[in-house]
Amino acid sequence: MSGTVRLDRLLANLGYGSRNEMQQLARAGVVNLDGAPIKDASLRIALTPDLPARLNIDGESLDPLPGLALMLHKPLGVTCSHKEVGRLVYDLLPSRWRSRDPALSTVGRLDKETSGLLLLTDDGALLHRIISPKHHVAKHYVATLARPLQGNEAELFASGTLMLEGETKPLSPAVMETLSPTSARLVVTEGRYHQVRRMFAAAGNHVEALHRDRVGALTLSAELGPGEYRQLSPADIAAIFS
Ligand code: URA
Repeated sequence: MSGTVRLDRLLANLGYGSRNEMQQLARAGVVNLDGAPIKDASLRIALTPDLPARLNIDGESLDPLPGLALMLHKPLGVTCSHKEVGRLVYDLLPSRWRSRDPALSTVGRLDKETSGLLLLTDDGALLHRIISPKHHVAKHYVATLARPLQGNEAELFASGTLMLEGETKPLSPAVMETLSPTSARLVVTEGRYHQVRRMFAAAGNHVEALHRDRVGALTLSAELGPGEYRQLSPADIAAIFS
């Protein structure tokens, strides 16, 4: 993030209101940079990483700048969608963030009944880098199964020949580790629809609970309870690809 931007445009794009409203807000004297009011929102300001700490609106620090990336501990029962009925992952974030432009989106999806590490970003290039099959980013899942493992699953998933129902291209090899007679860790590099559930279904089992705890080398932070989130640092983003 670099360069300069008109203050009214920056605030409007972060969801604070229209550019006109931002001019009025500035004239009211509640937009402060380094403690001094900016009365004219046409002013261009430098987009530096410390801007949220230096710019304050009505006594509150500015929202995160564009280029935002988050990890969210997705709880069960919420949907990764902007518009479906019921509880949405976006309801777990500050409401103003729904009006950001560029918009914040989930990086791929987790099913409504899957919990764990969900990434969100407004950076389209980053999003595509994570989901692109070219980058082989490993997604780690812990699956709890309805029936005991039979012993042949790891070989089947590693084969690179497993074909999911209704598909024409076999799955790339995936690594499965047995955790208990009825639970396993599965690491996949693709992101097909309901992939983990369908893989265990193809092996004659049924996934009762599914949790993602890692993407690349980035692990869901233990201090994040279900529904909680935090911003990713550049080191976190690098970990996704390492
Ligand atoms: N595979 C699934 O079946 N569900 C998810 O949410 C993620 C991977």
